[in-house]
Amino acid sequence: MATTKTDASERDGDTPLGPLKALVIHGPNLNLLGTREPEIYGTVTLKDIDRELKRLGAELGIAVTTYQSNGEGAIVDRIQQARGRADVILINPGAYTHTSVAIRDALVAVGLPVVEVHLSNVYRRERFRHRSMIADIAVGRIMGFGAASYYLALRAAREIIRPRAPAGN
Ligand code: DQA
Repeated sequence: MATTKTDASERDGDTPLGPLKALVIHGPNLNLLGTREPEIYGTVTLKDIDRELKRLGAELGIAVTTYQSNGEGAIVDRIQQARGRADVILINPGAYTHTSVAIRDALVAVGLPVVEVHLSNVYRRERFRHRSMIADIAVGRIMGFGAASYYLALRAAREIIRPRAPAGN
């Protein structure tokens, strides 16, 4: 009888490829989460979010690496390094969402699936936040659920990188 692969170390055929890998990138000012405009972004710290992402990743069979920078160039560098090393990128580019052609270009260049994440629902906020430079190159966007946006995005990422995973795995 055929066996169903349920081990996160095996995917798409018979070759063991190691655990699925997600790179989570947090843009500028997200290091201040917890104290930054808590009425908009909540009181959870970035450290808490990263810890929960890694815990949830372990549950889902995804090795999660997190990275935060306030610098546009540093974020571009980190995206470039992900080529061949990550299976999916989750990114909350912060204010660079609305302005950065460089981050968009880097994401296109590495060719990995992208999930765009925001804590706040940017459409309930100022007009300048309604434009995203990466919305049309992302597989999908999750916003408005506070820290849970990241956790939902990780679950969504798992669907992208392993679409035929058996339910409950
Ligand atoms: C944000 C929304 C952006 O408009 C803002 O500049 C941020 C955070 C969010 O997660 O809701 O820094 O990306």
